[in-house]
Amino acid sequence: MSGSSSPTKVRTVSLADFTTLKVGGEAELWEVEDEAGLREATSEPYRILGGGSNLLVSDDGVPERVVRLGRSFNDVRSFGASEDVWLGAATPLPGLVRRAQRAGLSGLEGLLGVPAVLGGAVAMNAGTRFGELSDTLQEVEVFVSGGLERLPADQLDLSYRRAVLPPGAIVTRARLRLTRSDPESVERKLALVDEARHGQPKVKSAGCAFQNPPGDSAGRLIDAAGLKGLRFGDAMVAHEHGNFILNLGNATASDVRQLVEEVRSRLASTGTDLALEWRLWGF
Ligand code: FAD
Ligand code: EPU
Repeated sequence: MSGSSSPTKVRTVSLADFTTLKVGGEAELWEVEDEAGLREATSEPYRILGGGSNLLVSDDGVPERVVRLGRSFNDVRSFGASEDVWLGAATPLPGLVRRAQRAGLSGLEGLLGVPAVLGGAVAMNAGTRFGELSDTLQEVEVFVSGGLERLPADQLDLSYRRAVLPPGAIVTRARLRLTRSDPESVERKLALVDEARHGQPKVKSAGCAFQNPPGDSAGRLIDAAGLKGLRFGDAMVAHEHGNFILNLGNATASDVRQLVEEVRSRLASTGTDLALEWRLWGF
């Protein structure tokens, strides 16, 4: 456990409170503020939690420690006008995208509406058709094998919703290179991205459940298969967009998992194999 001088906070939590889908059982949460805390937290098996916006956590929770980067890894308030900037991995993207717009810096517009923190966005190479994190990512600092290391972005094999990090690596900081623009032009790009999101539901979800197959949209395919409104308990395929699975209120992880498998098997019977975009914990 953390020593009296360590700022690490350890407590048992319901992971439902730390995910956007709002399902999942208990785990021991280690909220760390520094390298010593990371070293202590990772001395037993662990998982790393970002904004919890791409996770389906089992109703039984997870037996591993769940490591979360605390406030000292959140730089959004210090983000200014610099084009080439190191930012902490707990920095929330929504605030970052807005700060860049106000500073007249372009490059992050495609990430508008992604409710991630920077480390999770690196791990998933988050993005939309308007741009991905990899467009601006230059370098990452990772905690791996008990110490901090820097890796250039071109060693992460970044592609659609994918980054290859060393096993067990925790992204602690990332260096982004933005492009000088002006607030009005950045705002115009943001408006386009915002418009593309208008059809997406506002109810609790973890974004798109499945990756798009090459050249198509999983949402379109699920819609064409007539699966909107399909429901297990309080988990439902959204009417607004077929690739969003919603928690209408009291869904369990088991409801959500059954729905995912049902959608997948119905699509498989039409010849389409859908790959999950979500990360499953504890199944
Ligand atoms: P988490 O969900 O907490 O974790 C995701 C994975 O990253 C896990 O495997 C976790 O272990 C790993 N991870 C997290 N932090 C770190 C770290 N510091 N170091 C190493 N690994 C780490 N995604 C898109 O790409 N585009 C979209 O348009 C989009 N729209 C969304 C809209 C909504 C309403 C929601 C709820 C989600 C949406 N998503 C979208 C999905 C999600 O926001 C992204 O996948 C995002 O990158 C997840 O980041 P996170 O910080 O929430 O990570
Ligand atoms: N469509 C339908 N029915 C639906 C959903 C979509 O017919 O139920 C059609 C649309 O009309 C459009 C096409 O499918 O012609 C594509 O739809 P959309 O523009 O919504 O894009 P998408 O491919 O379904 C992707 C990302 C989203 C991202 C949007 C906006 C994936 C899996 N999804 O959705 O990312 O926000 O583009 O750029 O890549 C996420 O990854 O979690 C996510 C939400």
